[in-house]
Amino acid sequence: MQPRRTLLFAPAGDERKATKAFTLGADLVVLDLEDAVAHAEKDRARKLLASLLPGLGPHRPLVRVNGITTPWFREDLRAVVSAAIRGIVLPKVEDAAAVEAAEEAIATLEAERGLPPGALEILPFVETARGLLAAEAIARSSTRIRCLAFGGMDFLADVGASGGAENGIFLYARAHLVVASRAAGIDAPIDTVYPDFRDTEGLVVETLRARAMGFQGKIVIHPAQVEPVNRVFTPTPEELAQARRIVAAFEAAEADGVAVIQVDGRMIEYPIAQRARRIVALAAALGLDSA
Ligand code: COA
Ligand code: MG
Repeated sequence: MQPRRTLLFAPAGDERKATKAFTLGADLVVLDLEDAVAHAEKDRARKLLASLLPGLGPHRPLVRVNGITTPWFREDLRAVVSAAIRGIVLPKVEDAAAVEAAEEAIATLEAERGLPPGALEILPFVETARGLLAAEAIARSSTRIRCLAFGGMDFLADVGASGGAENGIFLYARAHLVVASRAAGIDAPIDTVYPDFRDTEGLVVETLRARAMGFQGKIVIHPAQVEPVNRVFTPTPEELAQARRIVAAFEAAEADGVAVIQVDGRMIEYPIAQRARRIVALAAALGLDSA
Protein backbone atom coordinates (compact mmCIF):
# COMPACT_ATOMS: atom_id res chain seq x y z
CA MET A 1 0.00 0.00 0.00
CA GLN A 2 1.35 3.42 -1.00
CA PRO A 3 0.43 6.03 1.65
CA ARG A 4 -1.08 9.18 0.18
CA ARG A 5 -1.47 11.44 3.18
CA THR A 6 0.37 14.29 1.45
CA LEU A 7 0.87 15.01 -2.25
CA LEU A 8 3.37 17.87 -2.40
CA PHE A 9 3.19 20.00 -5.55
CA ALA A 10 6.24 21.80 -6.89
CA PRO A 11 6.49 23.80 -10.13
CA ALA A 12 8.37 21.71 -12.70
CA GLY A 13 10.04 24.87 -14.01
CA ASP A 14 11.64 25.69 -10.65
CA GLU A 15 14.65 23.43 -10.29
CA ARG A 16 15.28 24.32 -6.65
CA LYS A 17 11.74 23.50 -5.52
CA ALA A 18 11.37 20.52 -7.87
CA THR A 19 14.42 18.83 -6.33
CA LYS A 20 13.85 20.02 -2.76
CA ALA A 21 10.29 18.61 -2.80
CA PHE A 22 11.66 15.07 -2.39
CA THR A 23 13.39 15.90 0.89
CA LEU A 24 10.41 17.29 2.81
CA GLY A 25 8.66 14.16 4.09
CA ALA A 26 5.67 14.15 1.72
CA ASP A 27 4.28 10.73 0.80
CA LEU A 28 4.27 11.65 -2.90
CA VAL A 29 5.62 14.53 -4.99
CA VAL A 30 3.78 16.00 -7.98
CA LEU A 31 5.89 18.01 -10.40
CA ASP A 32 3.56 20.44 -12.12
CA LEU A 33 3.62 21.50 -15.76
CA GLU A 34 0.10 22.96 -15.59
CA ASP A 35 -1.11 25.83 -13.40
CA ALA A 36 2.24 26.34 -11.64
CA VAL A 37 3.91 27.17 -14.98
CA ALA A 38 3.22 30.36 -16.96
CA HIS A 39 2.21 29.89 -20.61
CA ALA A 40 5.41 31.51 -21.83
CA GLU A 41 7.44 29.07 -19.69
CA LYS A 42 5.80 25.79 -20.73
CA ASP A 43 8.54 24.66 -23.12
CA ARG A 44 11.38 25.57 -20.80
CA ALA A 45 9.72 23.84 -17.81
CA ARG A 46 9.09 20.67 -19.84
CA LYS A 47 12.73 20.52 -20.94
CA LEU A 48 13.98 21.12 -17.42
CA LEU A 49 11.72 18.39 -16.05
CA ALA A 50 12.85 15.91 -18.71
CA SER A 51 16.46 16.60 -17.73
CA LEU A 52 15.74 16.14 -14.00
CA LEU A 53 13.80 12.87 -14.21
CA PRO A 54 16.69 10.46 -14.93
CA GLY A 55 18.51 11.67 -11.81
CA LEU A 56 15.68 11.16 -9.35
CA GLY A 57 16.43 7.54 -8.58
CA PRO A 58 13.80 5.73 -6.52
CA HIS A 59 11.65 8.83 -5.83
CA ARG A 60 9.29 8.42 -8.78
CA PRO A 61 7.11 11.55 -8.75
CA LEU A 62 3.76 12.02 -10.36
CA VAL A 63 3.77 14.60 -13.15
CA ARG A 64 0.83 16.93 -13.75
CA VAL A 65 0.63 17.55 -17.48
CA ASN A 66 -1.43 20.22 -19.18
CA GLY A 67 -5.02 19.26 -19.99
CA ILE A 68 -5.80 17.09 -22.98
CA THR A 69 -7.45 19.99 -24.86
CA THR A 70 -4.35 22.21 -24.57
CA PRO A 71 -1.61 22.50 -27.19
CA TRP A 72 0.98 21.21 -24.68
CA PHE A 73 -0.58 17.89 -23.65
CA ARG A 74 1.09 15.53 -26.16
CA GLU A 75 4.54 17.06 -25.82
CA ASP A 76 4.26 16.94 -22.05
CA LEU A 77 3.54 13.22 -22.19
CA ARG A 78 6.34 12.59 -24.67
CA ALA A 79 8.77 14.32 -22.33
CA VAL A 80 7.89 12.37 -19.19
CA VAL A 81 6.50 8.89 -19.88
CA SER A 82 9.26 6.66 -18.48
CA ALA A 83 10.11 4.36 -15.60
CA ALA A 84 11.31 7.45 -13.68
CA ILE A 85 7.74 8.49 -12.86
CA ARG A 86 4.87 6.88 -10.97
CA GLY A 87 2.16 8.31 -13.14
CA ILE A 88 0.34 11.18 -14.75
CA VAL A 89 -1.91 13.69 -13.03
CA LEU A 90 -4.65 14.85 -15.42
CA PRO A 91 -6.10 18.29 -14.64
CA LYS A 92 -9.70 19.43 -15.19
CA VAL A 93 -11.06 16.02 -16.18
CA GLU A 94 -14.72 16.36 -17.15
CA ASP A 95 -15.67 12.94 -18.48
CA ALA A 96 -14.50 9.37 -18.93
CA ALA A 97 -13.58 10.09 -22.56
CA ALA A 98 -10.80 12.46 -21.44
CA VAL A 99 -9.21 9.72 -19.32
CA GLU A 100 -9.61 7.20 -22.14
CA ALA A 101 -7.89 9.55 -24.61
CA ALA A 102 -5.03 10.16 -22.18
CA GLU A 103 -4.74 6.46 -21.48
CA GLU A 104 -4.41 5.69 -25.17
CA ALA A 105 -1.61 8.22 -25.55
CA ILE A 106 0.16 6.94 -22.43
CA ALA A 107 -0.18 3.29 -23.50
CA THR A 108 1.32 4.05 -26.91
CA LEU A 109 4.35 5.71 -25.33
CA GLU A 110 4.73 2.90 -22.78
CA ALA A 111 4.81 0.37 -25.61
CA GLU A 112 7.30 2.42 -27.67
CA ARG A 113 9.55 2.78 -24.63
CA GLY A 114 9.47 -0.82 -23.47
CA LEU A 115 7.51 -0.17 -20.26
CA PRO A 116 5.08 -2.85 -19.08
CA PRO A 117 1.53 -1.99 -20.18
CA GLY A 118 -0.28 -0.14 -17.41
CA ALA A 119 2.98 0.77 -15.66
CA LEU A 120 1.94 4.37 -15.10
CA GLU A 121 -1.07 5.30 -12.99
CA ILE A 122 -3.49 8.10 -13.82
CA LEU A 123 -4.66 10.53 -11.13
CA PRO A 124 -7.58 12.63 -12.41
CA PHE A 125 -8.33 16.03 -10.89
CA VAL A 126 -12.02 16.81 -10.57
CA GLU A 127 -12.27 20.59 -10.49
CA THR A 128 -15.26 21.66 -12.56
CA ALA A 129 -19.03 21.27 -12.34
CA ARG A 130 -19.06 18.78 -15.23
CA GLY A 131 -16.23 16.81 -13.71
CA LEU A 132 -17.99 16.57 -10.38
CA LEU A 133 -21.21 15.27 -11.93
CA ALA A 134 -19.23 12.71 -13.93
CA ALA A 135 -17.01 11.70 -11.00
CA GLU A 136 -18.24 8.12 -10.76
CA ALA A 137 -17.84 7.52 -14.51
CA ILE A 138 -14.37 9.11 -14.36
CA ALA A 139 -13.46 6.87 -11.41
CA ARG A 140 -14.45 3.80 -13.45
CA SER A 141 -12.82 4.93 -16.70
CA SER A 142 -9.43 3.22 -16.29
CA THR A 143 -7.87 0.48 -14.19
CA ARG A 144 -4.86 2.81 -13.86
CA ILE A 145 -6.86 5.06 -11.53
CA ARG A 146 -6.23 4.46 -7.81
CA CYS A 147 -8.14 7.52 -6.58
CA LEU A 148 -9.44 10.97 -7.56
CA ALA A 149 -8.21 14.37 -6.39
CA PHE A 150 -10.33 17.46 -5.71
CA GLY A 151 -9.23 20.79 -7.19
CA GLY A 152 -11.18 23.16 -4.96
CA MET A 153 -9.93 26.53 -6.16
CA ASP A 154 -10.68 25.85 -9.81
CA PHE A 155 -14.01 24.33 -8.79
CA LEU A 156 -15.12 27.45 -6.92
CA ALA A 157 -14.17 29.59 -9.90
CA ASP A 158 -15.95 27.27 -12.34
CA VAL A 159 -19.27 27.34 -10.51
CA GLY A 160 -19.00 31.06 -9.73
CA ALA A 161 -18.88 30.62 -5.96
CA SER A 162 -17.00 33.11 -3.81
CA GLY A 163 -14.85 32.71 -0.71
CA GLY A 164 -12.94 29.56 0.08
CA ALA A 165 -13.33 26.22 1.77
CA GLU A 166 -15.88 27.64 4.25
CA ASN A 167 -18.35 27.96 1.37
CA GLY A 168 -21.03 25.26 1.79
CA ILE A 169 -20.67 24.18 -1.82
CA PHE A 170 -17.30 22.70 -0.84
CA LEU A 171 -19.02 20.31 1.50
CA TYR A 172 -21.25 19.10 -1.29
CA ALA A 173 -18.38 18.66 -3.74
CA ARG A 174 -16.25 16.77 -1.23
CA ALA A 175 -19.13 14.55 -0.16
CA HIS A 176 -19.91 13.75 -3.78
CA LEU A 177 -16.29 12.76 -4.49
CA VAL A 178 -16.13 10.46 -1.48
CA VAL A 179 -19.40 8.76 -2.44
CA ALA A 180 -18.54 8.49 -6.15
CA SER A 181 -15.13 6.97 -5.35
CA ARG A 182 -16.66 4.43 -3.02
CA ALA A 183 -19.39 3.56 -5.52
CA ALA A 184 -16.77 2.99 -8.22
CA GLY A 185 -14.70 0.83 -5.88
CA ILE A 186 -11.55 2.95 -5.98
CA ASP A 187 -9.57 4.32 -3.02
CA ALA A 188 -10.72 7.37 -1.08
CA PRO A 189 -10.03 10.73 -2.76
CA ILE A 190 -7.36 13.35 -2.05
CA ASP A 191 -8.50 16.75 -0.86
CA THR A 192 -7.76 20.14 -2.39
CA VAL A 193 -4.97 22.52 -1.43
CA TYR A 194 -5.20 24.96 1.49
CA PRO A 195 -3.66 28.00 -0.17
CA ASP A 196 -2.85 30.09 2.93
CA PHE A 197 0.33 28.21 3.80
CA ARG A 198 1.19 30.34 6.84
CA ASP A 199 -2.09 29.47 8.59
CA THR A 200 -1.30 26.08 10.10
CA GLU A 201 -4.29 26.18 12.45
CA GLY A 202 -6.70 26.70 9.56
CA LEU A 203 -4.94 23.98 7.58
CA VAL A 204 -5.39 21.48 10.41
CA VAL A 205 -9.10 22.35 10.82
CA GLU A 206 -9.66 21.81 7.09
CA THR A 207 -7.63 18.60 7.06
CA LEU A 208 -9.51 17.13 10.04
CA ARG A 209 -12.76 17.94 8.23
CA ALA A 210 -11.57 16.22 5.06
CA ARG A 211 -10.38 13.18 6.97
CA ALA A 212 -13.68 12.88 8.82
CA MET A 213 -15.48 12.95 5.45
CA GLY A 214 -13.43 10.02 4.23
CA PHE A 215 -10.53 11.57 2.31
CA GLN A 216 -7.22 9.71 2.51
CA GLY A 217 -4.93 12.69 2.08
CA LYS A 218 -4.49 16.28 0.96
CA ILE A 219 -2.65 18.28 -1.67
CA VAL A 220 0.05 20.46 -0.10
CA ILE A 221 2.05 23.26 -1.74
CA HIS A 222 4.58 24.38 0.87
CA PRO A 223 7.09 22.63 3.17
CA ALA A 224 5.28 24.00 6.24
CA GLN A 225 2.13 22.06 5.30
CA VAL A 226 3.66 18.60 5.07
CA GLU A 227 4.05 17.64 8.74
CA PRO A 228 0.66 18.94 9.98
CA VAL A 229 -1.22 17.11 7.21
CA ASN A 230 0.78 13.90 7.62
CA ARG A 231 -0.03 14.01 11.32
CA VAL A 232 -3.79 14.34 10.79
CA PHE A 233 -3.84 11.38 8.40
CA THR A 234 -1.61 9.16 10.57
CA PRO A 235 -3.53 6.79 12.84
CA THR A 236 -2.95 7.56 16.54
CA PRO A 237 -1.64 4.71 18.72
CA GLU A 238 -5.15 4.39 20.21
CA GLU A 239 -6.81 4.24 16.77
CA LEU A 240 -4.29 1.67 15.66
CA ALA A 241 -4.69 -0.47 18.77
CA GLN A 242 -8.46 -0.42 18.40
CA ALA A 243 -8.24 -1.21 14.68
CA ARG A 244 -6.05 -4.21 15.49
CA ARG A 245 -8.56 -5.46 18.08
CA ILE A 246 -11.38 -5.11 15.57
CA VAL A 247 -9.49 -6.92 12.80
CA ALA A 248 -8.48 -9.77 15.11
CA ALA A 249 -11.96 -10.17 16.61
CA PHE A 250 -13.65 -9.96 13.24
CA GLU A 251 -11.37 -12.51 11.63
CA ALA A 252 -11.94 -14.93 14.49
CA ALA A 253 -15.71 -14.41 14.28
CA GLU A 254 -15.76 -14.75 10.49
CA ALA A 255 -13.92 -18.06 10.78
CA ASP A 256 -16.79 -19.20 12.99
CA GLY A 257 -19.38 -17.99 10.46
CA VAL A 258 -20.42 -14.94 12.51
CA ALA A 259 -20.53 -11.51 10.81
CA VAL A 260 -21.71 -9.21 13.60
CA ILE A 261 -19.72 -8.95 16.79
CA GLN A 262 -18.91 -6.39 19.43
CA VAL A 263 -15.56 -4.87 20.34
CA ASP A 264 -15.20 -2.38 23.22
CA GLY A 265 -19.02 -2.25 23.49
CA ARG A 266 -19.57 -1.29 19.86
CA MET A 267 -21.23 -3.30 17.10
CA ILE A 268 -18.78 -4.31 14.36
CA GLU A 269 -19.92 -5.27 10.86
CA TYR A 270 -18.12 -5.58 7.53
CA PRO A 271 -17.75 -1.83 6.75
CA ILE A 272 -16.20 -1.10 10.14
CA ALA A 273 -13.94 -4.11 9.86
CA GLN A 274 -12.87 -2.89 6.41
CA ARG A 275 -12.05 0.55 7.74
CA ALA A 276 -10.02 -1.07 10.53
CA ARG A 277 -8.13 -3.16 7.96
CA ARG A 278 -7.24 0.01 6.03
CA ILE A 279 -5.90 1.63 9.21
CA VAL A 280 -3.77 -1.44 9.96
CA ALA A 281 -2.47 -1.52 6.36
CA LEU A 282 -1.61 2.20 6.43
CA ALA A 283 0.21 1.78 9.74
CA ALA A 284 2.20 -1.12 8.30
CA ALA A 285 3.09 0.93 5.20
CA LEU A 286 4.23 3.79 7.46
CA GLY A 287 6.34 1.44 9.55
CA LEU A 288 4.30 2.14 12.70
CA ASP A 289 4.22 -1.56 13.56
CA SER A 290 7.23 -1.43 15.81
CA ALA A 291 5.99 1.68 17.64
N1 COA B 1 8.26 22.36 -3.00
C1 COA B 1 9.56 22.37 -2.60
N2 COA B 1 10.12 23.39 -1.94
C2 COA B 1 9.36 24.46 -1.67
C3 COA B 1 8.01 24.51 -2.07
C4 COA B 1 7.46 23.41 -2.76
N3 COA B 1 6.18 23.40 -3.16
N4 COA B 1 7.50 25.71 -1.68
C5 COA B 1 8.50 26.36 -1.05
N5 COA B 1 9.61 25.62 -1.05
C6 COA B 1 10.92 25.96 -0.45
C7 COA B 1 11.51 27.24 -1.01
O1 COA B 1 12.29 26.97 -2.13
C8 COA B 1 12.32 27.72 0.18
O2 COA B 1 13.49 26.94 0.28
P1 COA B 1 14.94 27.58 0.01
O3 COA B 1 15.02 28.79 0.88
O4 COA B 1 15.86 26.46 0.38
O5 COA B 1 14.95 27.89 -1.44
C9 COA B 1 11.49 27.31 1.36
O6 COA B 1 10.70 26.23 0.93
C10 COA B 1 10.60 28.41 1.91
O7 COA B 1 9.79 28.90 0.88
P2 COA B 1 9.04 30.32 1.02
O8 COA B 1 10.02 31.44 0.83
O9 COA B 1 8.23 30.32 2.26
O10 COA B 1 8.05 30.28 -0.20
P3 COA B 1 8.33 30.75 -1.72
O11 COA B 1 7.98 32.22 -1.84
O12 COA B 1 9.67 30.31 -2.18
O13 COA B 1 7.24 29.89 -2.49
C11 COA B 1 5.08 29.31 -3.32
C12 COA B 1 5.84 30.05 -2.22
C13 COA B 1 3.62 29.32 -3.02
C14 COA B 1 5.37 30.02 -4.66
C15 COA B 1 5.62 27.86 -3.35
O14 COA B 1 5.32 27.29 -2.09
C16 COA B 1 5.13 27.00 -4.47
O15 COA B 1 5.56 27.14 -5.59
N6 COA B 1 4.24 26.02 -4.19
C17 COA B 1 3.75 25.10 -5.18
C18 COA B 1 2.76 25.78 -6.09
C19 COA B 1 2.12 24.82 -7.06
O16 COA B 1 2.72 23.87 -7.49
N7 COA B 1 0.85 25.12 -7.41
C20 COA B 1 0.10 24.30 -8.32
C21 COA B 1 -0.67 23.22 -7.62
S1 COA B 1 -1.96 23.82 -6.58
MG1 MG C 1 -5.67 24.41 -11.16
